[in-house]
Amino acid sequence: MIYLDNSATTFPKPDSVSAEVYKAMKYYCANPGRSGHKLSLLAASKVFECRSAVCKLFNIDDENKVIFTSGCTASLNMVIKGVLESGDHCVISSLEHNSVLRPLQKLKSKNITYSVAQVYPEDDEKTLNSFRNCINEKTKLFVCTHASNVFGIRLPIERLCALAHSYGVMFCVDAAQSAGVLDVNVGEYGYDFVCCAGHKGLYGPMGTGVLVVNSDYNLSTLIEGGTGSESSNFNQPDFYPDKFESGTLNVAGICGLKKGIDFVISKNHDKIHRYEINLLKKLYISLSKNRKIILHTSLPSVEYFAPVLSFSVRDTDSEKVASFMNNNYSICVRAGLHCAPLAHKYMNTEKYGTIRISPSVFTTEKHIDALIHAVNNFNFYKELS
Ligand code: ALA
Repeated sequence: MIYLDNSATTFPKPDSVSAEVYKAMKYYCANPGRSGHKLSLLAASKVFECRSAVCKLFNIDDENKVIFTSGCTASLNMVIKGVLESGDHCVISSLEHNSVLRPLQKLKSKNITYSVAQVYPEDDEKTLNSFRNCINEKTKLFVCTHASNVFGIRLPIERLCALAHSYGVMFCVDAAQSAGVLDVNVGEYGYDFVCCAGHKGLYGPMGTGVLVVNSDYNLSTLIEGGTGSESSNFNQPDFYPDKFESGTLNVAGICGLKKGIDFVISKNHDKIHRYEINLLKKLYISLSKNRKIILHTSLPSVEYFAPVLSFSVRDTDSEKVASFMNNNYSICVRAGLHCAPLAHKYMNTEKYGTIRISPSVFTTEKHIDALIHAVNNFNFYKELS
């Protein structure tokens, strides 16, 4: 089996992650912050270790501003719905995922509007201009993916954040596809909010996510409840992270995530990025010689791409191709619209969708060779039709 669907979730996970999840379940899965007994304290210290690891990864120094969530979608909903109020306006990129688009669509009924800024791959000036042209006097927030989950196209988030701030607008990064491969340097660039999954490039378990708040804005809560703190108070505590962490945390997941972040830091995200881009370059060069294949971006480069590549087979539904690859070659990829219809619309790939290849640090050249062999095989097309 060849797994090339790491943008959906990385597989396999490092052994250190699985071992830690098991260890947590067996030895210290008490409820952190709820009781004073030693198991609860131990669980709380393990959760804190993961907050520290997130700080190191994103270059921030306040562990309290690291909020654990169930995933990137939850984090994005918390920002979008916690910031925007009636009359506000938001700017998003043309490559956003449904986890940004759908909350904003829902907020339309509350008199909250949004504009879509077109992204120009490899032309940061034009992309910046698109965002600038979308700003109006009601704009309060930019929400922007760091890299497209379909095409791997990177956005110049450092400059977009500076642009937003120059207009007094807050900036939220969707780092779902970038955390663990690209530099998400909150300390240096001052992003107000960073949302990411724990189970993709950070190699943690599913059901883990992070929201980093690097802003004094009074973000409102979507969920209120027990926090283990100020129990006599009928109102939600106002301090971080408790304000945003009602209910019992996913301790085993968070312990695993800590090991995943350690794994990424020890491997170095830059090296991971280069390694995976080189695999995709090899794939791209080979596929570009096949006249039945359409490649939807230029040759992936470290500067302009995260390690995600989309292609399609001319005039063929991409889901059909993916299912054929699965059934005949045991190659696992994701096809279709990847929960990102907006991105497909702007890249003109709506009709057939695309076949997405996303490697991880565990992907080898042999895996890529097997994919190339499958796609370049004459019978592939005969049997497909
Ligand atoms: N958002 C994830 C993906 O792109 C699940 O596949």
